[in-house]
Amino acid sequence: MDTLVVHGGTPLRGEIAVAGAKNVALKAFASAILTDEEVVIHNVPLIADVHCMLDVLTSLGIKVDINGHTVRIQSKSLKSTTVPLDVGARLRTSSLVAGPLLARYGAARIPNPGGCRIGARPIDRHIRGLAEMGAEISYHPDDGYFYLRADTLHGAGFEFEKNTHTGTEALILAAVLAEGETVLKNAAAEVEVDDLISLLTGMGATIKRTKEREIVIYGVKKLHGVEYSLMPDRNEEVTFALAAAVTSGDVLVHHSRRAHLGAFLEAFSSAGGQYEAVDASTTRYRQIGPIKPTDIVTLPHPGFMTDWQAPWALYMTQANGISTMHETVFESRFSYVSELRKMGAQIEYYDPPVKNPEIYYNFNWSDRRSGYHQGIRITGPTPLHDAVVEIDDLRAGATVLLAALTAGGTSYIHGVEQIDRGYENIEERLRKLGARIERKKEDEI
Ligand code: EPZ
Repeated sequence: MDTLVVHGGTPLRGEIAVAGAKNVALKAFASAILTDEEVVIHNVPLIADVHCMLDVLTSLGIKVDINGHTVRIQSKSLKSTTVPLDVGARLRTSSLVAGPLLARYGAARIPNPGGCRIGARPIDRHIRGLAEMGAEISYHPDDGYFYLRADTLHGAGFEFEKNTHTGTEALILAAVLAEGETVLKNAAAEVEVDDLISLLTGMGATIKRTKEREIVIYGVKKLHGVEYSLMPDRNEEVTFALAAAVTSGDVLVHHSRRAHLGAFLEAFSSAGGQYEAVDASTTRYRQIGPIKPTDIVTLPHPGFMTDWQAPWALYMTQANGISTMHETVFESRFSYVSELRKMGAQIEYYDPPVKNPEIYYNFNWSDRRSGYHQGIRITGPTPLHDAVVEIDDLRAGATVLLAALTAGGTSYIHGVEQIDRGYENIEERLRKLGARIERKKEDEI
């Protein structure tokens, strides 16, 4: 377990480039199973989750070659349709190989991805959709695997009961080679889904967003190889924008995609944050004047994204007044609150009054556990001081790192592997903005 030693209190200033989108890369790799021809993906972030997903492919016998930020995948060497438990259980997105394996080989065995630090994260919506397309699916609790088989996948009309980003992608990946037409209703609008659609279209798939939250896929006989460059990671851009604002810095972000950040930019401006469109793919972020308190509700796209909730809460610890965050997508996504409190933040849990929570919340209401909360109230501004803190989820980790950079003194952040899941070389890149950070091995502390 590595530790980051952070000497805080320095405003972050300078230029940084956003890496390729983690939440497209992982699905692009699953897409490569849909053809025997080579699939080449550029602008791949070199992060732990990417290596995990590529391990899933190699565990199936698929040839993978990583050269810098380019990954070449050859699926014709596939030897198995079973994802080993120890490989698949490390990453929820491993379940997305099911559709392509069913479409091409008629069978798949995938570990139940199970919960993680932000909630139960079941795949019931994925499973229901695949069954609608003709897959026979059983779950064996004794070995923790889903067993799927299908002589042929056929198109279906399927309406998601609630939004699911990867659930939408799971069904698209199954439908592109299915027989006939698939109509997905209440389909996710996340921009990462659009990037996956572009990639699959490049492979010869026929996929259209026909109207709001509706996607129609016409199955084709065969897909061919493709060379594709991933969109930038909007969660990285938001992390760097808030890093600039909360440290009273001034950061120029390259590979910026403002069109993906509507809800963030609106909230950022309302808090007194300033963003300047330097050119089509460069944005300057800083804080002009005092940070104003806000009331944010996280929602599926195009709403304020749940992945931005944690770093935004940190930002609000420095606002003049009381702010609230209402998390509606995941049932347990406030793990960073305890760590920010250690650094002096004043954050209280509360449960916003909601009519019909079973319908209102994006997670399955039955996945809630006692002690879970959906809201936090943040009183600012509170000076943050150094502390020894733990990380147990990716976005919470980035938030605690930003908090340590904001605080005075020297903080120790354990469990850095969580940040490495989604941010490439985070300490090197932040050092270029003036951050004083060292990475230490456990036995060096
Ligand atoms: C994707 O997760 C992203 N992950 C998440 O980013 C992101 O926060 C989320 O979408 C929302 O945009 C990847 O793309 C790899 P959902 P996903 O299916 O697909 C529940 C990060 O930090 N649900 O839209 O898992 C689910 O538990 C990660 O990069 C079911 O109950 O999100 C959640 O509470 C975190 N049953 C809610 O719905 C299902 O079958 C939304 O899930 C599917 C989902």
